[in-house]
Amino acid sequence: MSDIKNPVLKKVLMCKPNHFRVDYQINPWMKPGTADSQVALKQWQNLVQKYEENGILVEIIEQDENQPDMVFAADQGLIIPAKYTKNKHSKILLSNFKYPQRQGETKFFLKWFVLKGYEMEFVPGNISFEGGGEILPWNGKYFIGEGFRNSSQAFKYIQETFGLEFISLELISDRFYHLDTCMFILDTDTCFYYPKAFSEKSQELIQKLFKNPIKFSDEEVGGFAANSAIHGKIVFVQKNNPTFNQKLEDLGYKAVEVDISEFIKAGGGIHCLTFELERV
Ligand code: ARG
Repeated sequence: MSDIKNPVLKKVLMCKPNHFRVDYQINPWMKPGTADSQVALKQWQNLVQKYEENGILVEIIEQDENQPDMVFAADQGLIIPAKYTKNKHSKILLSNFKYPQRQGETKFFLKWFVLKGYEMEFVPGNISFEGGGEILPWNGKYFIGEGFRNSSQAFKYIQETFGLEFISLELISDRFYHLDTCMFILDTDTCFYYPKAFSEKSQELIQKLFKNPIKFSDEEVGGFAANSAIHGKIVFVQKNNPTFNQKLEDLGYKAVEVDISEFIKAGGGIHCLTFELERV
C-alpha cells in the first residue's frame, strides 16, 4: 500500500454532449453512426455528478452541433502553470488539431476561456498540438506521446517558450493514438502502460523511470482503463475493468466506477472528457 500524497482535482472544464455523434473516422475505434446521443448525455451527467460528489468543481461549455468530437475537452489545450509564465499567471495553451474534422472546435473553447478571463497562448502556424490527451504530468515533468497527432515542433516550442520539461514516449500503434489511451500514471512510483503501444526504447524508459511499472492486459486497455482520472486517492474508472480496480485497491486507491461506453465508440473516455483547470 502506498502512502504517497497525490494532488486532487479542484476544477475541471467539461463539454455538455448535446450533439455527440460518431460522424467520421479519425482513429480505429470510431465506427460512424454507432453512438446513442441520449445515452451519452446520461453517462456524461453521471460522470459530472460523481466528480461533484467528490468535491471537484465542474465548469461546463455547451457543445456546438457541428462539432461531434468537441466533448473531448482534454484535447483542447494545456494549462501552463503560473511558475512557467513570465507574468506568473497560469495560461491556457490552445490546441491546433491535426485533422480538419476537429479544427472547428477550438474557437468555441477559445471564446469560453477568454470570457472567463484566462490568458491565452497559441502554438505558431499549423503545428499540430492536441493538448492534455497527449501530456501526462509526472514528478514535476511531463510525459508526452509522439507519433500520431502532435508535431514534435509543438513540444519543442513549448519547451523553449515556457521551460516545461518533457519526457518523450514513442507511440507505434494507431489504436493508441494519444498517450492517455495507453498509459495511466498513478503516482511517482507507479504507472500502468500497454507495452505494444510503445516502441521498445520507450518501454525500456518507462521501466527505468518507475519503481513499479505495471502492464495493462489486452482486456484492460481495450476497456479504456488507461483513460481514468486520478483525484488524490480516488481513481475514476470505466466500468467493467475488475482486474484494474483490484490492482488499484491493492495499491491503496479507491476505484470509482463510471460508465462512459458511448464515448469509447469515438475512441475517448473519462480522461479525454475532462480538461484539468486546477489540481492542487
Ligand atoms: N474521436 C476523437 C479523436 O479521434 C477522440 C479523442 C479522444 N481524446 C483523447 N485524449 N484520447 O480525436
